[in-house]
Amino acid sequence: MQFIDLKAQYQALKSEIDANIQNVLDSAQFIGGSFVKELEDKLAAFVGRKYCITCANGTDALQLAFMVYSIGAGDAVFCPDMTFISSTEPAKMFGATSVFCDITPDTYCLCPQSLERQIQAVLAEGKLKPKAVVAVDILGNLCDYEALSAVCEKYGLVMIEDAAQSFGASQKGKKACAFGHIATTSFFPAKPLGCYGDGGAVFTDDDQVADLCRSLCVHGKGPGGKYDNIRVGMNSRLDNLQAAVLLPKLKALDDYEIDARQAAAKRYSEAFADKFVTPFIAEGTVSVWAQYALLAENTSQRDRIIAHLNEKHIPNMVYYPTPQHALPVFRNEPCYGEEFTNANDYCARTFSLPMHPYLTAEEQQEIIDAVLEAL
Ligand SMILES: Cc1ncc(COP(=O)(O)O)c(C=O)c1O
Repeated sequence: MQFIDLKAQYQALKSEIDANIQNVLDSAQFIGGSFVKELEDKLAAFVGRKYCITCANGTDALQLAFMVYSIGAGDAVFCPDMTFISSTEPAKMFGATSVFCDITPDTYCLCPQSLERQIQAVLAEGKLKPKAVVAVDILGNLCDYEALSAVCEKYGLVMIEDAAQSFGASQKGKKACAFGHIATTSFFPAKPLGCYGDGGAVFTDDDQVADLCRSLCVHGKGPGGKYDNIRVGMNSRLDNLQAAVLLPKLKALDDYEIDARQAAAKRYSEAFADKFVTPFIAEGTVSVWAQYALLAENTSQRDRIIAHLNEKHIPNMVYYPTPQHALPVFRNEPCYGEEFTNANDYCARTFSLPMHPYLTAEEQQEIIDAVLEAL
């Protein structure tokens, strides 16, 4: 059994993926190329944004967003305390300060009330300028964008949607990657839309931001091309081979994978309803279920379940064991009195089960039985 079954997905899409890969090999167009252009157009249309600029990975996509909005020394960047380090790393890398905020106890996404508390604490202290928010769609679920947008507007903050885990999710008819001033995603193989290596993308509706991203991705190229360097940038491109793989996968995601993920999540939630805290998806939101995470009673129950699943060779993961404020790299960042009650509690109790669109009901029953046995 696989935690995320990329082999089953490849078997389902083999003929289209193989043909596209052969096409790239025959054309010998490895950097840039027609698949990259076609993919960018289709991704932008899928999420409902004017522009998609692909790049080398989701971390670069976030760094590009920081560069576009000139986030740096003296700036406070508000991030959720429970996420992967890619969401919080760029602030430190560019000399800004990550100010962590608690998550909500139900969606596990950035808490709008904690965000506002932290903004006010930064303003009261008067040392940093509140500049941006990284809103992370954790585990494939979406943030409360109505509430977060209102806070960002009130304080004039740039909102960056980190949709690395949520490509394919939606809220009130609006797709992940369509929120915020700029949005980023990852095509890491295990993501809801993953390639066969690394890949990422930035989404924007702003003509100037799109031009700037395209320049920054290619060493700050100017109107004269890649040897007309007008600013410092990076080398961050999506290969044509990865675009060739992503095109049939994007179609499958849209055609049936999002639905198949809902069906699998529903089976788990029904089986575990009165045994664990099951995931909460707000009215009007469709999660893409990058992960299916349960909350055990406490850490020792969680660890007992994990030990039993390991004995039965059932893959499982903990996303994430440590909140950002407690990571060694961030231990000296200012917390402004925030206690991160919800993030600490979540990290102490969470565990994730196999989740992907090719999970069969039989496999799921085996997983459910093993978890219940462990209780
Ligand atoms: C929330 C989040 N943001 C950003 C990233 C970075 O993506 P990549 O691995 O493509 O750099 C990840 C990857 O795991 C992620 O989970």
